[in-house]
Amino acid sequence: RTVFLKDYQAPAYGIPRVRLQVDIHDGVTRVTAGLNMRRAESTPVGTPLKLHGVNLTLKALAIDGAELEADAYTVAGEELVIHAVPEAADFVLHTEVEIDPEHNTALEGLYLSKGMYCTQCEPEGFRKITYFVDRPDNMALFTTTISADKKRYPVLLANGNCTTRGDAANGRHFATWEDPFPKPSYLFALVAGNLACLEDHFVTRSGRKVTLKLFAEQHDLRQCHHAMESLKASMRWDEERYGREYDLDIFMIVAVSHFNMGAMENKGLNIFNTSCVLAHPETTTDLGFQRVESVVAHEYFHNWSGNRVTCRDWFQLSLKEGFTVFRDQQFSADQLSASVQRIEDVAVLRNAQFAEDAGPLAHPVRPESFIEINNFYTATVYEKGAEIVRMLHTVLGEADFRKGTDLYFDRHDGQGVTVEDFVQALADASGRDLSPFMQWYRQPGTPVLHVSTAHDAVAQTYTLTVRQSVPAKTGFPEPKLLPIPVKLALFARDGQPLPLQLTGESAAVGVERVLIADQAEQRWVFTGVTEAPVPSLLRDFSAPVILDYAAGDEELLFLMRHDNNGFNRWLSAQTLFERMMLAVIEGGAAELPGLAAVLESLAGLLPGLVETDPELAAKLLQLPTENYLADKVGVIDPQRIHDVRLGLQKAIAKHLSAFFQNQYLNGHESSYQYSSEAIAARTWRDVSLHYALLGTPSFTLRDAVGENYRKAPHMTERMSALRALVHHDAPHAAVCLADFFGRFAKEALVIDSWFAVQATNPLRGVEEVRRLTAHSAFTLTNPNRMRSLLAQFANANPVQFHRADGAGYRLIGEKIAELDALNPQVASRLLGAFSRWKRLEPGRQALAREVLQGLAGRALSNDTSETLGRLLG
Ligand code: ARG
Ligand code: ZN
Repeated sequence: RTVFLKDYQAPAYGIPRVRLQVDIHDGVTRVTAGLNMRRAESTPVGTPLKLHGVNLTLKALAIDGAELEADAYTVAGEELVIHAVPEAADFVLHTEVEIDPEHNTALEGLYLSKGMYCTQCEPEGFRKITYFVDRPDNMALFTTTISADKKRYPVLLANGNCTTRGDAANGRHFATWEDPFPKPSYLFALVAGNLACLEDHFVTRSGRKVTLKLFAEQHDLRQCHHAMESLKASMRWDEERYGREYDLDIFMIVAVSHFNMGAMENKGLNIFNTSCVLAHPETTTDLGFQRVESVVAHEYFHNWSGNRVTCRDWFQLSLKEGFTVFRDQQFSADQLSASVQRIEDVAVLRNAQFAEDAGPLAHPVRPESFIEINNFYTATVYEKGAEIVRMLHTVLGEADFRKGTDLYFDRHDGQGVTVEDFVQALADASGRDLSPFMQWYRQPGTPVLHVSTAHDAVAQTYTLTVRQSVPAKTGFPEPKLLPIPVKLALFARDGQPLPLQLTGESAAVGVERVLIADQAEQRWVFTGVTEAPVPSLLRDFSAPVILDYAAGDEELLFLMRHDNNGFNRWLSAQTLFERMMLAVIEGGAAELPGLAAVLESLAGLLPGLVETDPELAAKLLQLPTENYLADKVGVIDPQRIHDVRLGLQKAIAKHLSAFFQNQYLNGHESSYQYSSEAIAARTWRDVSLHYALLGTPSFTLRDAVGENYRKAPHMTERMSALRALVHHDAPHAAVCLADFFGRFAKEALVIDSWFAVQATNPLRGVEEVRRLTAHSAFTLTNPNRMRSLLAQFANANPVQFHRADGAGYRLIGEKIAELDALNPQVASRLLGAFSRWKRLEPGRQALAREVLQGLAGRALSNDTSETLGRLLG
C-alpha cells in the first residue's frame, strides 16, 4: 500500500503516557502495556480506535480495567481495530502480547544480537514490540520496566533515568526507567545483556554533571575510548556552536554487532553498530576512526535536531537527517581539516547521491509517496538534504543562521514539525524570504548550471551568463527553477584574486561572493576587469549541482595550482581528469587528450604540495570513480571505463615512478596519532604506494610492502599494505591474507575488512566472492559481514560485478533472494547495486534484466518489491 504526503491527517487518538513492562524469557518475551489514550478533539465519539501491530500474539486486551469481548475488536493485517471505544475522551487501554525476538532476523523491533537483547524502532519498529500509535506525531511519556534472568542479562537499560531496580523470583531481576521527555515511539529503546561499561562524565555549560556510559562486550571495551572522547567533544561543540545543552542526567551508548544501519539516536540510549563505535589503532584505520567520530556526533546532535524537535511524519525525514548531517559535517570540519572534510562530503554526494538522483530510484528530498519508508533512508534524504541546509547557511551567513536555528529549537521544542517549519524559522529570524528554497525539497534530479563568460578588454568588463536546467523525472515532468547559490572568485593570471564589483555598485565587495542564480538565464557584469580572469566557480561546492562550464585545460590546471580554495583545487583536478577520460570513453578519442601537459603540471606541483598539504596531494590523485564516470556516459561499458581509468592512473604512475617509490620508501610509520597532520601523512603514503606499484616497481619496493605489512605499527599501515598486495596480485598476497585472518580472527570488524579487501579486488571476481560466501566466517545474518562481501563486491568492484557473462549479476541476485527472507531492509538496499542497469550496453543489460525479472517472479518483502518495481520501471 502506498502512503501519500498529501493525505496527512493527525492521529484520531493520541497516547500521551505509556507504562511498558517487558519480561524477557527464553523463547518468548511478554510485553504488557498500559496506554493512557486520548481522543483528539476533532475525532467524533465512537470512532474506532486503530493501533499498529506486527507479528504480535495478542494475549489480553482491556479498557479501563474491563476485558474486551472478542467481538469488540479485530486484528487485521498490521492493525488492531477496537470498535467499542468509551465515550470519555480519556481512557486506559491495557494490552498484553507475546513476541519472539530470538527469531527476529529483520533486526527491527526487539531482537537478539550475540546474546544481547536490543531494539531498533525507527521508523516503524515499535509496532513489532507492542500495539501502539506508531507514528512520530504521537508524543508520549514512557516508563519502562524490563525483567530478565539476572546472571545472563545483568545490564537492563531503557530511555531516561533508572528509578528502581531489584531482584525477583527464580534468579530474575528488573529495572524501571523513566524518560521525563515526551517522545515518539521510534525513539524508544531497551537493552538487556551482559555488557561491560566505560564510564566518564561531562559538565554542561550550566554546570550540570552528566554521566556518560558506553556499553560493549568486555573484550571490546579497550576500543571504546575514541568514541567517548568524540562524545565529549560533540557535547561541547553543540553548546558552543548551536547553544544546545544536554538535558538528561545520563547519556548511554550501546554497541551491538547486528545492526542494519550505522546507529540510532534513541533518547538517552543511543544504539550503535559496533563499526561506528569501536576504534583502536591496532584494529581500525583512519577512515574508521573518522567514521566513529562523525557518527557519535551525528547521533548526539539528534538529541536536539530530531528528538527535542522531531518530524511530524516520515515524509519530513530530511528535517532531522539533512540538518543533522549538516551539523555533523560542520563538527568534523572543526575537528580535522575543513577543506578535506568538504572534499570527502562532496565526493559522497557526487558518487552516491548524484547517481541516485539520475537513476530509477530518484526521489525528492521530501518524498511525496512511499510503500516502505525504510527504502527512503537514502543519500538524497541525508546528503542532498544536508546540502540544502548548507545552502541556507551560505545564504544567511553564520550569525543569521544561528539566530534561525535558535528560533527553530525554541519555537518547536516538544513538537513534531515539517520542513516548512524549519525554513520558516530561519526566514523569520533573518527577515529573509527563503520560500524559493522549498522547491529544493520538492523535486528530484540534479540541476545543471551552465556558465559562460565573456571579457571585454575595452570596457574592462567580465560578464558571467548563467543558465539552469533541471532534468524532468518520472512524476515530475515540469521541474521548476531553483535558487542556486554560486560562490565565486576571479583570479588574475598572476594568481591574485580580483576585487569583485558588479555594475551599479560603488565599490568592490571583497574577493569572494555568493550570487544567487534563480532564473532560467541571468547575467552578472563585473567592472574594472582589465585582463581576462580565471573564474573559480561553485567554491566549496556552494550548491549540489552539476557545473557545466567549458573551462580550458590551462584554466583548470591553473586553478589546481593556484586557487586559494582547497576544495576547488581538488574539484578542478577532478574536472580535468573526468574530461580527459570521457573524451576516450565516450568521445572516441584514441588517447587521453592533453595528457602531456597534465603530467608535466603534476610533476611540477606534487613535490611541493606533498610538503605543505599531503592530504590534498592524495585527494588530487584519487581519480573520479568508475561508477561516477558511468553516470556521465550514455551507454555504459564498465570494462572500457575501467581500462581507460586504469590507463590514466598508469600514465601518472609511470611519469612519476621514481617519485612515488621514494615517497613510499622514505616514509615510515610510527605509533598512531589521531590528528589531521598524521592522517594526511598516512593518506599520502597509501596513495603513493598505489601509484608506485602501478609504475615500474622495483624489487626493493615489493619487498618493502610485505615487510611493512608484517611490521605495521597500526591498522592503517597494515591495511594499506595488505590492500596493495592483494589488489596488485603480489606474490605475498595469499600468505598475508592468511596471516591477517589468523591474527585478527577474534575481531569481527577486522574480519569484515578481510572480506572487503578481497571483494573489491579488481583482478579477481565472482568465483572468489562465491568461494568466500561459503567460508565458515561468512553469514548473511550479520549485516556488516554480509555487506563486507556482497555490497562491497556489487558497489565497489564494478569491473567484476559487471562481468560480461552476467555471473556477477546472478551471484548478487541469488543472494538478494536468500537475504530477503531474513532481512528485507538490507536486501532491498543491496538491490540498489542494479540502479544503472538500463543504461548498460545491450549484452549486459539483457543479463541484468534476466536476474531482475527472476527476482520479480518470487514472493518478496515490501521493501525489496518496492525497490524492484522502481528499478524495472
Ligand atoms: N536515525 C538513524 C540515523 O540516521 C538512522 C536509523 C535508520 N533506521 C532504519 N531502519 N532505516 O542516525
Ligand atoms: Zn540521523
